[in-house]
Amino acid sequence: MLKLLVCVSGGGTNLQAIIDSIADGRITNAKIVGVISNNPGVKSLERAANAGIPACVISPKDYADRDAFNRAFLEKVKDTDPDLVVLAGFLVRIPEEFVKEYSNRIVNIHPSLIPSFCGVGYYGLKVHERALERGVKITGATVHFVNEGMDEGPIIAQKAVEVLDGDTPEVLQRRVMEQAEWVILPKAIDDIANGRISVTDGKVVRI
Ligand code: GAR
Repeated sequence: MLKLLVCVSGGGTNLQAIIDSIADGRITNAKIVGVISNNPGVKSLERAANAGIPACVISPKDYADRDAFNRAFLEKVKDTDPDLVVLAGFLVRIPEEFVKEYSNRIVNIHPSLIPSFCGVGYYGLKVHERALERGVKITGATVHFVNEGMDEGPIIAQKAVEVLDGDTPEVLQRRVMEQAEWVILPKAIDDIANGRISVTDGKVVRI
């Protein structure tokens, strides 16, 4: 049984998709053992509580400096002892030490087709604002393993979503979530939990 730790910052719709997928069998051989939020009072925490999942808040604002936050974050991760850490809308730069220690055991969902609209400054609604500014006709989402680079780790899955005339960033964000994120993130977790993928030469291969 793969033990999942889910890290969140806000609404937690991806967390909910994971919870629902475990409940209805789209994800098998996995359970969520903890949730970490960097923000207090967010809907994600309510979702975790409703599902009976232990959750805590670790906010950079509560620590003297970034190193102290990083230490507290890593300590919490280790206490939880996860097999896989899922960054489900976790909008905080994660410590490099953590990435090294959990190599190929951290996944992230990003709301674009990487390598488009990713990297520093591209997160949440901003990604969709930039996509609309550029006038792309197709966007989507990517789930990938996390390495030391920003949105640069091995890609597990991607799904394209159409941009429609008159889209606002909010409308496009919702469509990308519904049609791509809430589908490919649970599927990737299920693939990992059931040993269907591995990383070879920096690329994800299906076994
Ligand atoms: C999601 O769209 C996720 O892809 C994005 O933040 C949103 C969180 O929504 N993540 C990133 O931009 C990471 N770079 P949620 O809290 O409802 O899951």
